[in-house]
Parts: sequence; structure tokens; C-alpha cells
Amino acid sequence: PRVVFSGIQPTGIPHLGNFLGALLNWVRLQQTAAPEDELIFSIVGWHALTLPQDPVALSNARRDMLAVLLAIGLDPQRSTIFHQDENPHHAELAWLLNCITPMGKLRRMTTWKTRLAASRNANDDSEVDESLLNVGLFTYPVLQAADILAYRATHVPVGEDQKQHLELARDIADTFNRTFKSDSPVFPLPEVVATPTRRVRSLKDPSSKMSKSSPDFQSRILLTDTDDQIKSKIRGAVTDSIQGITYDPVDRPGAANLLDILAACTNEDVLEVAKRYADKGHGHLKNDVTEAVVELLKEPRGEFEKLKGETAYLAEIAQVGATKARERSEDVLQEVRKRVGLV
Ligand code: TYM
Repeated sequence: PRVVFSGIQPTGIPHLGNFLGALLNWVRLQQTAAPEDELIFSIVGWHALTLPQDPVALSNARRDMLAVLLAIGLDPQRSTIFHQDENPHHAELAWLLNCITPMGKLRRMTTWKTRLAASRNANDDSEVDESLLNVGLFTYPVLQAADILAYRATHVPVGEDQKQHLELARDIADTFNRTFKSDSPVFPLPEVVATPTRRVRSLKDPSSKMSKSSPDFQSRILLTDTDDQIKSKIRGAVTDSIQGITYDPVDRPGAANLLDILAACTNEDVLEVAKRYADKGHGHLKNDVTEAVVELLKEPRGEFEKLKGETAYLAEIAQVGATKARERSEDVLQEVRKRVGLV
């Protein structure tokens, strides 16, 4: 049986990239999983803390994210849905994994390198080094590995930007298995489960991914956007001035992004979709993408509006989820403690 695990940071309402790159895949896995497969989805508050967060906003975002996960169709009866910060086993395992992970491997992480470069630019000083960045940011991928390994997860549905972290998680699992050898390895090596839309691009700068951190609000579509907001953001999406539509992510990333989004909404192959637009204009494509996205988000948005005020219900779901998660990871942690000699 498979053990599926994935996580999302509670840093605001998810955007179309989170939805098409990951969340929709979680729901599909829930629909197609065999009865004996386990499904575990976590809201990773500790990861969010690696960047400064306003405590009130974080607390709200954390609750809203749970409402979103239920709104898109995750079923707390079938899947374990919980807050990472309510299962201390993640932090415990992260510490043990920190102690077998060389700094050199973490320095190679693209996310770390990006932070480092941003900090240098902000300080306008090429001499500024990592000394201003917090340690949490550096060991972030180790905590992520712990999230996955605490359940001996085998399958991890994520977008493309998380691939390097997943490779590191496999590497750490393998190191642990080899360092603390006995009859059988403690951890399976977790595999990435990729969606067809692994990378949704920014609507304003299609050379980069759609992200929560971009200051341009028009660059991303949120799960809670109104039909009018969706319409205006897609109308304003950057494309090119070439006649006709072709799927060419390298030279025509804007159009390719719209085709990817449309294909994801209609669950078709993107090249098939592209063929239909070969002799049509960008305006035509944008209208159809708008219609498809409006349709895609209608139900989740409505469900979210219903759920977000149900604080007592959400608290109860969170509590049940946390209990299930803790019970599930206790055996794994017990085995890990034994292997390293902490008994
Ligand atoms: P986070 O919260 O940034 O994103 C959640 C999921 O959304 C995907 N994603 C995208 N997919 C396609 N196109 C985009 N533009 C796009 N932007 C985001 C991400 O790949 C991710 O799957 N470190 C993780 C959270 C995490 C985690 C874990 C994931 C913590 N522990 C263990 C899996 C397993 C993160 O920051 O995701």
C-alpha cells in the first residue's frame, strides 16, 4: 500500500499554481487511491515561520487553509488532515535528521540560494553573507524531509518547485538507513507524484512561477477571487504578438501558460488543446481560459465561504487530525529512537 503525504504553508489563500500544481492532485489521489492506501495532508505552520509572520495573520491563515482543504474536497474521514505544528514528532525527527545532514547539501538548495541572493541585493553589499539569514530558512528542507519520513511516506504530490527538496528527502532517508543499518531499512525512499501542470507561471512575468510572494497582485489568481477578478487578471495576462497559438513553453511562455491552465481545467492533453487554437487569437484563448477557471473555482470558492466562519467545526477537525497524525507517527519515532540509541 502507498502512503501519500504532502504539505502546504499557511501563508494566505492558495493561488492557481498551488491548486493545479498540488491541491487538485491531492483530491484526485483521494478519489483514485486503493482502500488500503493512506493519505496524509499537513498545513505546515513551522515552515511558514522561516519568514517573518504577523501572529494574528498567521493564526487566521492557518485556520483558513484548513477550510480551503475541506472546501476543495478533501475528506477528513478518508484523509488525515492536520496542522504540522500540532504533531511534535515532526520537530523531533527534524532534529535527528539535522544531525546527519551535511551543511554542504543544504547550501546547494535553490530556495536557499535565492534567499541568499535576495539578502545580498537588499543590503546592496556583495560582502554580506548568510549571517543575516535565520537558521530555520537553512534547515527548512530537513524539516520537510521529517514531515514525509515521520509517516514512512512513499508518494509525495508536489509541484515542480519542490522537486529538489524531495531529492534531498530521499537522500536523507537513504543516509539514515545506511547509518543505522539493521535487517530492514527504516525509511522507504519517497517518490514525487507530479501533476501534468507541474508549474503554473506568473500571469505578469511568465518566465517565473506564479507565487504568493510576488508584489503584483495581478500576477496570480486566488482560489477566492471573484469571477470579475479572474476575468480581469486573465485579460491582463502577458502573452506575445505572434499570430496564431502554438504550445512553446520556451519561446512563448505566456501562451503556453494559458494553454497549460486550460488543459488542467478540462483534464486534457495540452497539445490537443493547443491544436484547437492553432488559427485563433490570444483574445479567444483568454476568454476560454477565463470561463474554464471560473468554472473550476466556483465550487471550492462557495464551499470555502460556507466553511470559513465555522470555527468550532474547524477546530474539531483539526483536533481529530492531530490525534490521528500523532498516533500514526509514534511507532515510526519509536523505531527511530531505538535505532539511534535514544532508549
Ligand atoms: P508551498 O506552500 O509553497 O506550496 C504548496 C504546493 O504548491 C505547489 N506550487 C506550485 N505548483 C505549480 N506551479 C506553481 N506556480 C506553484 N507554486 C506552488 C508546490 O510545489 C507545493 O506542492 N515546502 C513546501 C511545503 C511542505 C511540503 C512538506 C510539501 C512542507 N513539508 C512535505 C511536501 C511534503 C512548500 O513550501 O509548499
